[in-house]
Amino acid sequence: MRNGNHRLLIVEDDKLLREQLWWSLKKDYEVFQAGDRAAAIESVIKHQPDLILLDLHLPPDNNSEGGILLLKNIRRQAREAVIIVMTGDQKKESALRAMEEGAYDYFRKPVDLAELKMIIHRALEKLMIEKENRMLREKFHQENSYEGIIGVSKAMGKVFDSIRRVADSNATVILRGESGTGKDLVARAIHNTGPRKKKPFIAVQCSALPEHLIESELFGHEKGAFTGAVNDRAGRFEMAHQGTLFLDEIGTMSPAIQAKLLRILEQKEFLRLGAKEPVQVDVRLITATNEDLEARIREGKFREDLYFRVHVFPLHLPALRQRREDIPLLVKHFLKVFCDSHGVPGKGITADAMETLSNAPWPGNVRQLKNFVMTLVLTIDSERITSADLPTGHALPSSEAGQAFPAVTIDGLSLPEAVEQFEVQLLKDALQKTEGIKVEAAKLLGVDKNRMMYLCRKHHI
Ligand SMILES: Nc1ncnc2c1ncn2[C@@H]1O[C@H](COP(=O)(O)OP(=O)(O)O)[C@@H](O)[C@H]1O
Ligand SMILES: [Mg+2]
Repeated sequence: MRNGNHRLLIVEDDKLLREQLWWSLKKDYEVFQAGDRAAAIESVIKHQPDLILLDLHLPPDNNSEGGILLLKNIRRQAREAVIIVMTGDQKKESALRAMEEGAYDYFRKPVDLAELKMIIHRALEKLMIEKENRMLREKFHQENSYEGIIGVSKAMGKVFDSIRRVADSNATVILRGESGTGKDLVARAIHNTGPRKKKPFIAVQCSALPEHLIESELFGHEKGAFTGAVNDRAGRFEMAHQGTLFLDEIGTMSPAIQAKLLRILEQKEFLRLGAKEPVQVDVRLITATNEDLEARIREGKFREDLYFRVHVFPLHLPALRQRREDIPLLVKHFLKVFCDSHGVPGKGITADAMETLSNAPWPGNVRQLKNFVMTLVLTIDSERITSADLPTGHALPSSEAGQAFPAVTIDGLSLPEAVEQFEVQLLKDALQKTEGIKVEAAKLLGVDKNRMMYLCRKHHI
C-alpha cells in the first residue's frame, strides 16, 4: 500500500543499515534519515514525522541510557509520533524500558524487512484511527454546546444553526420561548459571534422598570428634564451605539413606550428627555418575549406596526420538556460548575436519579433545573447523588402534571405534601439568596411576580 502522506524518520548510526531501510521504505513513505542524536532531534522538529525508527545505541556513548534519553527528548518534540525502537541488544531490558517511556514497539536486529514493514503499517493504521477518534471527539464536543449554550437535541442543533446564520448579519432577531429556556444566553451568543462583538451589548429588562423610569432609562435625559435629573445622562440606546441592544420581555411595554420605540426603529434617531436635538444611533436590536404577542395584538395591547418591525427573524427556544435528551448533559454541566464554584469535590449522579430528573416536567425550564442542581450541591454531602436523595429532600414530580400521582411517597408524605415542603424550601432558599427581594427571588425560581406573591401568601412567608 502506498501511503505517501506519512513521514518516517530513520535514526541509525550504521550507514549501511540506514540506507538499506531507506531503500526499502521510500516507495511507501516519505523517509528522512539521521545518523546521530543531534541530527535526530533536528529532523524531528523540522519534519514532524509520524513514525520514527530509533536505534537505541548511538554514538558517542553507544549505550541504551543515552538512547532512552533521546527517546524522551523526541517524545517531547513530537507527542503524537509513533516510535519503534531498534536494538542490537539480545537482552530485553533496554527495549522494555523504551516501551515504558512511550515507544510503541521494539525490534531486534538483524532486521527482517518484511516483518518491519508489517509493524510500521500496523502502527500507522493505529495512529490514523486515534487521530480520527480525536477529531470525532472534538467535533462532538463542539456540537454539544455553542457559546456556552448546552444541548445535544435536534431542536437545540437547529437553534445553534440559526444563531450562526443570523449572527453575521444585522438582522433584528426576536427570541421567543418560555421563561428559563435560554433567551438571554442566546441573545449574548448572537452578539458575541457577530461583527459587533467588540462593541457594547446592552440589556434592558423591560418588565423590571416602572413606566416613568423606562423612558429615561432607554433614551436618557438632559439636566433638568425632571426633578432629580441633576446631570445629563445617556440612555441604553446611546450606550449600545454600534453594538447590540437587547430588550427583554418586550411584550410588557406600555403603549407610550411602544410608540417611542417604533419611532427610533423607523428613524434611527430619538430625543433624550428634555432635549431639542435628536441623537442618531446605530444599534442592532434583539428582543425577547415569553408572551403570546399575536394574542396581545388582538387584545389591542401590542402595536401591530411595532410587531412587524421587531418580528423580522423569530428564533424559537423549545421548552426543556420538549428536549429531554438535553437534561443529563445539563445536569452534569451544572453539577461541575457548582461543585467547582463552591470548592467541593465533584459529584456524580446515579443512572436512576438522572432518569428521575430527565422525566420531571421542569415548567421553569433550564433556569429551574439549574437552581435545583445548585440546591442539590449545597444540601447533599455524599459524592454521588442517588434517587434516594431526590424524593426526601427534594420531592420532584416524577411524571408530567396531570398524570396520576402515587398516593404515598417515602417518609409517609403524600406527593402533594412533599411537593409543598419542597416549594417552601425553594422559596426560602431563593429569598435568602436575594436577601429577601421578592422580585429577584421570583426570577431565580422562574416564576412571575404574581405567582411569587401568591406563593408567599400561601406559605405565610
Ligand atoms: N442551553 C443552556 N445551557 C446552559 N445554560 C443554560 C441553557 N439555557 C439556559 N441556561 C441557563 O439557565 C438560566 C436561564 O436562562 P436565560 O437565558 O436567562 O433564560 P430566559 O431569558 O429564556 O428566561 C441562565 O442562568 C442560563 O445561563
Ligand atoms: Mg431572560
